[in-house]
Amino acid sequence: MSLNPHALRAEFPMFEHYPELVYLDNAATTQKPRCVLDAERHFYETANANVHRSAHRLSGLATEAFEGARETVARFLNASSADEIVFTRGATEAINLVANSWGSQNLKPGDEILVSGYEHHANIVPWQLIAAQTGAIVREIPVLPDGTLDRTAFLSLLQPQVRMVAITHASNAIGTHLPVLELAAAAHVAGARVLIDGAQAVAHESVDVQALGADFYVFSGHKVYGPTGVGVLYGKAELLADMPPWQGGGDMIERVSFAGTTYAPPPARFEAGTPPVAQAVGLAAALNWLCGLDRAALKQHEAHLCALLDAGLRKIAGVRTLATVTERAPLRSLVFDNAHPYDVAQLLDARDIAVRVGKHCAEPLLDALGVSGTLRVSFAAYNTAEDVTHFLEALAAALEDLA
Ligand SMILES: Cc1ncc(COP(=O)(O)O)c(C=O)c1O
Repeated sequence: MSLNPHALRAEFPMFEHYPELVYLDNAATTQKPRCVLDAERHFYETANANVHRSAHRLSGLATEAFEGARETVARFLNASSADEIVFTRGATEAINLVANSWGSQNLKPGDEILVSGYEHHANIVPWQLIAAQTGAIVREIPVLPDGTLDRTAFLSLLQPQVRMVAITHASNAIGTHLPVLELAAAAHVAGARVLIDGAQAVAHESVDVQALGADFYVFSGHKVYGPTGVGVLYGKAELLADMPPWQGGGDMIERVSFAGTTYAPPPARFEAGTPPVAQAVGLAAALNWLCGLDRAALKQHEAHLCALLDAGLRKIAGVRTLATVTERAPLRSLVFDNAHPYDVAQLLDARDIAVRVGKHCAEPLLDALGVSGTLRVSFAAYNTAEDVTHFLEALAAALEDLA
């Protein structure tokens, strides 16, 4: 099986509405294939009801669809059971859940949380918040100037007081892949738990949480061709079983009384209130769609687009790509000698080219690399070689205009 990006593009209604659109902001959010939109619509038209609650048939259908989506996610990540999958609003909420629930139970004054210097703010701030509450300390695993992780520093930081290592699978700002397998193994030898932020990995890599040795793994639906408003926390069964609820409400209890309340087992314990039912159904459709592609061919396709981009950029004066390491998500972060990324992006937008500019919610990383902002180009399955050509032509013209 090979990949035909033009045929894939035709599966995305957004490009029917905007045929000229060159969408290169996929690390922020991907467009949605028709099958995902159809799955949500079909759910609302044929099965919409609240889940887990009522005796009527529709509620049974909704519950079946929702729990079926959980099974799909479990297969997607190779979790050992669907009970290890908690639906959240997104990666951000999933990390906050772990920081609050696991953190409040397991962190005490003087304990340490190692957080890599690559992290999105979503994998920094929740740890700072729980550290402030528990007396734990957040320490940064530094990034070297070439954009690789300082492994020596990591190993020397990995002392017995470290309880958690929170690392991204791939950097959203510069794309670098972290050696998560190796880092997780070292963390486990040192007695720490490992949370991997897979927000930028799952759309591009086949992920096996058991092979990675992740204690927790999180991602957002909307970055993997699915809807907004839904994300995933994978947690090892024995860890989730010991964690207290972090939000209270309907559906997360066993029994409620004013004398005391007991809680449901995971994953319900962590899903207070009405969950994102239709969104979970849409996410399952997205994951099935993605798994229906030849994922090795997809990886090759995205790498080919990056190679075309890199070759084209070498011919344009005054552009530099941050972090030229080989193992990278299919994205490039660019800085310019004589132009502000924001001005460049505006000129690109005038030519229907969508990119992201700024600090990418990764301020510590940009500080470490000594830049105040970048222009990020990020690819998805439906991007084509023509998209790269349009981008390169428009970039060269923009830089000329701004010179
Ligand atoms: C690496 C990474 N982690 C976490 C997030 C947060 O995702 P969300 O805003 O969908 O919760 C993002 C979003 O850009 C990201 O790129």
